[in-house]
Amino acid sequence: MDNRPVGVYDSGLGGLTVWREIRRQLPEESLVYLGDGKNCPYGARPADEICRLADEAVGRLVGAGCKMVVVACNTATAAAIDFLRRKYRQMPIVGMEPAVKPACLNTRSGVVGVLATARSLDGDLFRRTAARYGENIRVLTAVGEGFVELVEEDREQSPEAVETVRRVLEPMIREGADQIVLGCTHYPFLLPVFRQVIGERGVAVVDPSPAVGRRVGQLLDQYDLRAEKGATANYGFLTFADEAYRSRLECKAFG
Ligand code: SIN
Repeated sequence: MDNRPVGVYDSGLGGLTVWREIRRQLPEESLVYLGDGKNCPYGARPADEICRLADEAVGRLVGAGCKMVVVACNTATAAAIDFLRRKYRQMPIVGMEPAVKPACLNTRSGVVGVLATARSLDGDLFRRTAARYGENIRVLTAVGEGFVELVEEDREQSPEAVETVRRVLEPMIREGADQIVLGCTHYPFLLPVFRQVIGERGVAVVDPSPAVGRRVGQLLDQYDLRAEKGATANYGFLTFADEAYRSRLECKAFG
């Protein structure tokens, strides 16, 4: 039994979609969320810079006493997960995997769309996953241009959000995609907009956060790190930005 917190890290607000899922599935686990905020978005930054930022963030979570870290950022996972696992060998580190597998298993049209940042789509992790599960399936990719900014600037419900999502999604749907994979943890905050744009066209949107929550539970068992039964969870929020951003993280987490 181990009542130390699980750390959850993202470039900004997006990883809160994963934080919420971990909290829902594992209510006795204390959590410390670190949303960089100062350097967000990561999506078009060079891989070595993202690696350095991720190292700094994970170091801060380790310093805060975390027993495990979830890199709840697809871009940071793509750029830094191997490095982080080598450096922080003493604890489990969970990364985001693009949910290409369930999408490929469930497609009826044989066409799957993956939305992510440029850095994530460029990375080996995505290439390997698409090659492994996407045999005989057409896997279309697109950068969710402007999506992260909509979420970071609290504009998810604006008319502009609908136009921004439509511009990226329509071409994939026209090409026959019936599964859309959200390959960035910011994107689930735009789910209502996705649903509005998709309408009644029978296109499923795949959010990987529930699977990440389950993976965290498995690793807590495997490493014997679960919090005591009946433990009261505490929730902390950290950032490399300012106090206003830290308090936005906290509000959005519970909002
Ligand atoms: C970003 O900071 O550009 C997005 C982070 C992600 O890929 O989840």
